Amino acid sequence: MSFTQDELKQQVANAAINYVKSGIIGVGTGSTANYFIDALAEIKHKIDGAVASSEATSNRLKSHGIEVFDLNDINGMDIYVDGADEITEHMHMLKGGGGALTREKIVAANAKEFICICDESKYVSVLGKFPLPVEVLPMAKSYVARELTKLGGQPELRDFTTDNGNIILDVHELKIIDPIEIEIKINQIVGVVTNGLFAVRPADTLLLATDNGVKTIKKGA
Ligand code: 5RP
Repeated sequence: MSFTQDELKQQVANAAINYVKSGIIGVGTGSTANYFIDALAEIKHKIDGAVASSEATSNRLKSHGIEVFDLNDINGMDIYVDGADEITEHMHMLKGGGGALTREKIVAANAKEFICICDESKYVSVLGKFPLPVEVLPMAKSYVARELTKLGGQPELRDFTTDNGNIILDVHELKIIDPIEIEIKINQIVGVVTNGLFAVRPADTLLLATDNGVKTIKKGA
């Protein structure tokens, strides 16, 4: 049986609901995360609320009557559920297609378990076919673009302003052989807020929707 990408996203979002027990849930951003939010609404009586990784996610949670907490008012959370643009067998992810990478990384850092929900088109052997998003303070745009070019990338300014009031440079043609090294290196460029590599803190659990059902892959397995 073959499913559309949207059907696979919906199936994997539904599967993630099994991980929701109680308390406060960290919620990602994007179309897969949106399916998760809609499924979460069905069991909202089980949880206290959520922490959102973007204004868009916050609005969608609130529209379902799910309380949205400020991250500074809570003491961490058990799970963070989010999609990705690419993920490898090592659970290293490339994220930020929706431009929410910085808040996603912050919320994820506060969760005991990062549950990545993806359709199988996102499962890759090497990261970087999808351009790497880098959130940058506006005044540092040209400097950071030059530094990214020195690393072998081709930065392109996205017509977008982040929830934090910054710009995004999408970096094409980067060879991401060692995602941890590149994540750290790019984050050290002055003016970079963060980049879309989630390798220093990878996912713990990957739920991968395939035409043969949703597979569960654990870090280190
Ligand atoms: C947003 C993200 C998303 O998780 C990523 O872009 C995947 O999105 P989608 O579920 O729509 O394919 O990182 O910043």
